[in-house]
Amino acid sequence: MSTYILMKILESAPKRYDKGIRFLTLGQLDKAYHRLTSHIQNGQQVLDIGCGTGALTIRAARKGARVKGIDINSGMLEIARKRLAEANLSQYVELCEMGVAELESEPSASYDAVMSGLCFSELSENELNYTLKEVKRILKSGGTLLIADEVKPGNLLKRFINFLLRFPLVIITYLISQSTTHALVNLPEKVKKAGFQIESIRLNSLGNFIEIVAQNPKDETK
Ligand SMILES: C[S@@+](CC[C@H](N)C(=O)[O-])C[C@H]1O[C@@H](n2cnc3c(N)ncnc32)[C@H](O)[C@@H]1O
Repeated sequence: MSTYILMKILESAPKRYDKGIRFLTLGQLDKAYHRLTSHIQNGQQVLDIGCGTGALTIRAARKGARVKGIDINSGMLEIARKRLAEANLSQYVELCEMGVAELESEPSASYDAVMSGLCFSELSENELNYTLKEVKRILKSGGTLLIADEVKPGNLLKRFINFLLRFPLVIITYLISQSTTHALVNLPEKVKKAGFQIESIRLNSLGNFIEIVAQNPKDETK
């Protein structure tokens, strides 16, 4: 969906974020998150990067994981906190106002899984590469990286259609929120370059939304 760009507007009104994003993505995001969190298991330590209002965090906690959700937007975290309390899951989740730049404070090999939904497209190229490097460090050997995000279609025709659909939305979003997102380019290659093994990639029909499941290779020397 080319409408992911509008999420920047929704983030400035966290109370409307959940309904808005569901409407904009016609429920497709829920399905993608359901697929991604099917890789989370009971008892795992999980990090949700850019957790927002907790869409992935809550799903992982429901599966019995201990989750740390980090985000730089206190308004989004506030909603996540309320949602967790309503779902009686607060004791399984730690929410922190923290950006990816602070990932260096996380201990090495401390997570079974790291997940991120629609956050990497809000990072600069340098931040993204740094984040992937840090995620590799903090994931246990054999740990899982789960990403769902907006990407630039590889196919030229799809890229053109996506550009036509997205361009007016970029302008509207910028006028309202003075910010934008960057549909990711070559994300699977970047994930591989950071040292992960890709297990699966799923693209939507327009080729502008990707789901990646990757593994931190097992350290055979241990
Ligand atoms: C589009 S929202 C997605 C939220 C949530 N993952 C979801 O799918 O509903 C992107 C989130 O990434 C957060 N974010 C953006 N840049 C960040 C950074 N540098 N570090 C941590 N979080 C960040 C934003 O504050 C926002 O809550």
